[in-house]
Amino acid sequence: MDDRSRSAAPPRGEYNDLRELIARFDALGELEVVRAAHWDLEMGALAELVSGRSPGRAPALLFDHIPGYPEGFRVLSGAANSFKRLAMLLGLPEPRDEMELVRGYRERLATFSPLPPVEVRDGPILENLLEGDAVDLFRFPVPRVHELDGGRYIGTEDVVIMRDPDTGWINLGTYRIQAHDRNTAGIWISPGKHGRLIREKYFARGEPCPVLISCGQDPLLFLGGHQELAHGVGEYDYAGGLRGRPFEVIASRGHGLPMPAHAEIVLEGVIDPKQTRREGPFGEFMGYYASQASEQPVVRIERIYHRRDPILTLAIPSRPPENFTFARAAVKSAMIWDEVERAGLTGVAGVWCHEAGAGRLFNVIAIKQMYPGHAKQAGLLATGCRAGNYAGRWVIVVDEDIDPSNIFDVVWALSTRCDPPQDIDFVRGAWSTPLDPMLREPPWESNRAIVNACRPWGWKDAFPKVAEASPALKRQVMEKWPKLFGR
Ligand SMILES: Cc1cc2nc3c(=O)[nH]c(=O)nc-3n(C[C@H](O)[C@H](O)[C@H](O)COP(=O)(O)O)c2cc1C
Repeated sequence: MDDRSRSAAPPRGEYNDLRELIARFDALGELEVVRAAHWDLEMGALAELVSGRSPGRAPALLFDHIPGYPEGFRVLSGAANSFKRLAMLLGLPEPRDEMELVRGYRERLATFSPLPPVEVRDGPILENLLEGDAVDLFRFPVPRVHELDGGRYIGTEDVVIMRDPDTGWINLGTYRIQAHDRNTAGIWISPGKHGRLIREKYFARGEPCPVLISCGQDPLLFLGGHQELAHGVGEYDYAGGLRGRPFEVIASRGHGLPMPAHAEIVLEGVIDPKQTRREGPFGEFMGYYASQASEQPVVRIERIYHRRDPILTLAIPSRPPENFTFARAAVKSAMIWDEVERAGLTGVAGVWCHEAGAGRLFNVIAIKQMYPGHAKQAGLLATGCRAGNYAGRWVIVVDEDIDPSNIFDVVWALSTRCDPPQDIDFVRGAWSTPLDPMLREPPWESNRAIVNACRPWGWKDAFPKVAEASPALKRQVMEKWPKLFGR
């Protein structure tokens, strides 16, 4: 694609809700409406298959006419999980490739200011309110996602909203939510996650932990909710900054927590300090059932708010690629790049968190080596920074002529510029999760490999030259025989 045919940056934030976004996805040719897929496994399998077919280019799927449910009670899969949809959401021109998308996100990070949410009194989320006996999680087409799952999950592409009892800070995090029965849900939060730290504070006081669970919302809120933002950073503010317009929130009836005024479905309740129930198993993002079903706290659902014809948003953790990992890879890569630079690293040429590593376990950073130890510093920082630390495994450092998103390039660098006994360091006992298939018991800590696949610093200038036609020669023959290159 040449520069003339590329789209200009679309305006940002000129939509009010998920429905308007879906209409825009449709106009871009990025939406498939699927009729009559069953909530029991069929939606999950379709989402898994379609998103895996061509990562970064698969359409979003909007399920309607779901057996047993009224027409209009819909489920959306893969909302922002493509080059085009993510760029549209962020107000960026359509990127040519992964690195252009990562650079675009970094520019957005550099130019936005967080925008705190604005409290309003009314909004579409108040269209329906169910309380008392009317509360019923199965009013919605809650999917059973994979064959071996222990139940139906209403919260997958969700945001769980909690208030820190000490500081009043509001945290949004994506944590899976199992629908146990009409008014009880299971919640699974990994050790060290903000939501877990907050819940522990309430439990330490013997108090229930108030919570809102949004199960259908703007993809930017999901994006803020599932990235490792620093403690104290408000996800509403972050997502509002990305959108270029603050999110409107309404204080919930029961606990005064801020719910997105334009969300589709919001559950309100408390996590009970005294009650647990068997939760899971659930097929998870590394591609396994690594943690068994276990006793987990329950959420007592006190009320449900929902829009007319509500849309549940669906993320499918599974063997990668998954229906959210492309977008996550792009955003996480930009965040790691940003963090390592803020920690003083120079010469970064690119970062990519590969989808085959579930967007966390195989991260590549490219640098232009400038001093001895530069590659080691890059590897250590990319391993230890907040955005790259949780549940990692491999960090590969490559030279700037390697595209970190091109796995062929990366394997070539590993194969030809790396001396394994010299160039691999290990970090032991890092932050991980029971979802890691390599871990069998607490503490949930994993080991990391930092691989230096750059030309050896001491003799990099004497390193054998690359056997490849020069850019000028390539250009010359392409111009002379354009038909060979589809021009
Ligand atoms: C689709 C999806 C599902 C997730 N499910 C969970 C989960 O069930 N439990 C969990 O602890 N983290 C889960 N995560 C990861 C967290 O959302 C992520 O680590 C986030 O940073 C947590 O927010 P926090 O940093 O405010 O704790 C999930 C992420 C995604 C993309």
